[in-house]
Amino acid sequence: MCGIVGYIGTQKASPILINGLMRLEYRGYDSAGISTIEKTGISIMKDKGRVKNLYNLDGINNLEGTIGIAHTRWATHGKPSKENSHPHTDNSKTFSVVHNGIIENYNELRKFLSDNGYKFYSQTDTEVIPNLVHYYYTKDSNNDDLKFLRAVKNACNDLKGSFAIEIICKDYPDNMIVVRKDSPLVIGKGENENYISSDIPAILSFTRNFYLLNDFEFVVLSRNDAKFYDKNLKPIHKETQTIEWNTASAEKDGYDDYMLKEIYEQPNAIRETIGAKFSENSKCEFDELNFTKDFLSKFNKIYIIACGTAMHAGLAGKNAIEKLCKINTEVDIASEFRYRDPLVDDKSLCIFISQSGETADTIAALKLCKEKGAKTIAISNVIGSSITREADYSIYTHAGPEIAVASTKAYTSQVVLLVILAIYFAEILGLNSSELSSLKKEILELPKKIEKTLELSSDIKDFSKKVYQEKDIFFLGRGIDETVAKEGSLKLKEISYIHSESYAAGELKHGPIALIENGVTVVSIMTDPKLVEKTISNIQEVVTRGAKTLVITNQNIDTSMFDFVIHIPETSPFVSPILSIIPLQLFSYYISKEKGLDVDKPRNLAKSVTVE
Ligand code: G6P
Repeated sequence: MCGIVGYIGTQKASPILINGLMRLEYRGYDSAGISTIEKTGISIMKDKGRVKNLYNLDGINNLEGTIGIAHTRWATHGKPSKENSHPHTDNSKTFSVVHNGIIENYNELRKFLSDNGYKFYSQTDTEVIPNLVHYYYTKDSNNDDLKFLRAVKNACNDLKGSFAIEIICKDYPDNMIVVRKDSPLVIGKGENENYISSDIPAILSFTRNFYLLNDFEFVVLSRNDAKFYDKNLKPIHKETQTIEWNTASAEKDGYDDYMLKEIYEQPNAIRETIGAKFSENSKCEFDELNFTKDFLSKFNKIYIIACGTAMHAGLAGKNAIEKLCKINTEVDIASEFRYRDPLVDDKSLCIFISQSGETADTIAALKLCKEKGAKTIAISNVIGSSITREADYSIYTHAGPEIAVASTKAYTSQVVLLVILAIYFAEILGLNSSELSSLKKEILELPKKIEKTLELSSDIKDFSKKVYQEKDIFFLGRGIDETVAKEGSLKLKEISYIHSESYAAGELKHGPIALIENGVTVVSIMTDPKLVEKTISNIQEVVTRGAKTLVITNQNIDTSMFDFVIHIPETSPFVSPILSIIPLQLFSYYISKEKGLDVDKPRNLAKSVTVE
């Protein structure tokens, strides 16, 4: 959940580290710190609060070191405070460490180290790491070049849980060691310099060439080299991969916030995700899958597993797969799925959706499915992310970097990719061919229709101004529109802190209607022609009870009884979430702005949840 950055090269490290931390703040922002190796030894500067507090610390500009590590924290063990901020050092101040992840056995390790005379100054799990490294370092009588590495490796062998670690040592001022297990970390290669980061966008302005690390690979970085070792410290060879994203796409491009920029990037994100997978008259192709009818026919069940917004995209995937491919499909939240002993076996095809590709619960659920013999497909927005390295097959959304914590363009890209995947399966299975070609035509028209939907922005802003002080807002829909109600409600609570609930419109009478009273705002989505009349009847029930109504529709209906109506372009119900969510993304955005909140970094939330 936290963000880490590192630099080793010929330039002053501190400005580079702070720049990287600012870009990683969406991963956590309750404290920040940096550590460099100065002529006088290891320096650590850290503070509670945002990276700008760190930037303003006295003396930060005097740091001269050209090697350093840095961290922005999202508290797991120990409250946000200066003592609990990273970097952490050992008792002798020989090592400095930043860590992302959770050390599950830290109590046990702390006891072991305390019994050996070590003292602890924070409540964090991380503080055991530098002390454990120190413990092994002092036990090693062989003073060769690999002594630092051996100590790190021995310490890591004792750690249970997840970690991405950067560590520097005052005795090795020209080296930094990094290692990861179940937590993200990439290395960017420059000219006589190396950059380290939790993710690619944070250091994309410095390099396009990246080394991707697997679990338990140790890297010893120097200014002009990166040496890789496996878990037994056997040297391994790695090539860099070139990332095509441009730096401008990781910046705000003149928009006030990343979220607004990302909402407006949706026509392109969808265009890129559709890519060359099909044309109106050609069959869908996924080179990464290359499935056959025999292969697909052996699955009697598909599971779609994800968290948050990605899970909501999964619901649209289920709708398409069940209707087009006639395969029973279940959608589950990764954190529930992994502990409910699911009936997965070798007849199951399991699809995991994760924008970041680093969500701990989703990765754990994937590993579980593999153990049970299922075939696994990862859908991610980040090439080389952890989930894509675990899965049997990986396919990608091409939404570009998504920086705002609240997901927008990744969601719509996931929905379109899942529908294309459903078409691909249906074509392989020889089903529904007439319906498929009209659906493909609809998909190809989506980017233009998204542009049209975005033109409704100022109408939505007007409505948002009317309701931004509300305490509760309800979202209703049926069928595919219910999945959008769920996502709309999540978006609103994430960034506006207004309590919101989503319900299947038909469920209203079974409880939620008791909450409807004069002036309560109810948002409803009505895009499925087969269900629209039913939903209208439900909305009539709330209108009668005095609710203020916002209706998002693409149907030609009598709207006279509603307070506010947004007409979006018509499309197939399979892909309607891609259009109907846009007014709701903008609705949440404008409410948050009206309330003066930090849209991109909502309180308590992190973009990438790499802990359970
Ligand atoms: C966090 C983010 C959400 C995201 C979810 C899953 O909760 O705030 O926006 O939907 O994680 O993330 P993933 O990267 O796995 O899609």
